[in-house]
Amino acid sequence: MILIDGKKISTEIKNEIAIEVKKIVENGNRPPHLAAVLVGHDGGSETYVAYKIKDCEAVGFKSSLVRFDDDVTEEELLNKVEELNNDESLDGFIVQLPLPKHISEQKVIEAINPKKDVDGFHPVNVGRTVIGLPSFVSATPYGIVELIKRYNIETSGKNCVIVGRSNIVGRPLSVLMSQKAINATVTVAHSRTKNLEEVCKNADILIAAIGSPEFVKGNMVKEGAVVIDVGTSRVKSDLTKSGFKLKGDVLFEEVADKCSYITPVPGGVGPMTRVSLLQNTLLAARKEIFK
Ligand code: GUN
Repeated sequence: MILIDGKKISTEIKNEIAIEVKKIVENGNRPPHLAAVLVGHDGGSETYVAYKIKDCEAVGFKSSLVRFDDDVTEEELLNKVEELNNDESLDGFIVQLPLPKHISEQKVIEAINPKKDVDGFHPVNVGRTVIGLPSFVSATPYGIVELIKRYNIETSGKNCVIVGRSNIVGRPLSVLMSQKAINATVTVAHSRTKNLEEVCKNADILIAAIGSPEFVKGNMVKEGAVVIDVGTSRVKSDLTKSGFKLKGDVLFEEVADKCSYITPVPGGVGPMTRVSLLQNTLLAARKEIFK
């Protein structure tokens, strides 16, 4: 069994990005610039956005944080999105989700100029991904594909089962895994799938993106399968200083010995998701998606 080291690969990619940034600046251009919009004080969102800012600093990007209180109106937020769309000092921006209930997330996503949509959430980017055009791809699917490529994992003709059909992970990943560069035969399983155990057991590549801690047990995994664990549930723990422990969607102790490759949690998909936002921002700065 080979443990897929997302931390190591993400560090390699960060080093590659830092070299690119240096070249951009040496050529007399400004560094790539990412902005993050954060509404309210949700603990998880605060942490994610802080990581995004820190990651930008680590590779030499400029970053900006735009904050609003929980009671910001939808109109105020949409006005800010429009301002960021028109800000030429900015290559890309994200609006951290979830948003307060009185604001339509879909309306906000659709207000973002697709050329600056480094989250890859805008329907134009999702649609371009589906038909194989250059697009911003959401960070977790992008990171998983990068991991699979960098570990030279055989995908052509393999059965890939993705458990979970979310707009930002399962659904776009199913599209990427079936594209010509990857050539897997993809099944998207979900809460209404019958005989889930059997379906998963048929997977050469099993991707668990359910958001339910330790959902995938040993009896659901084929001998020699590649298992990618997207789960990051925070569960209470007496063993850590924070009082929380990250748990994946896979019961690692039962599954690991059966696998050819497996991602750990933490240290697998998570760091790749973080670095993918940087990759998208670099693509935005170079105008490589929408030429
Ligand atoms: N909330 C959880 N994950 C994400 C993400 O990738 N982007 C944004 N904007 N919000 C999120």
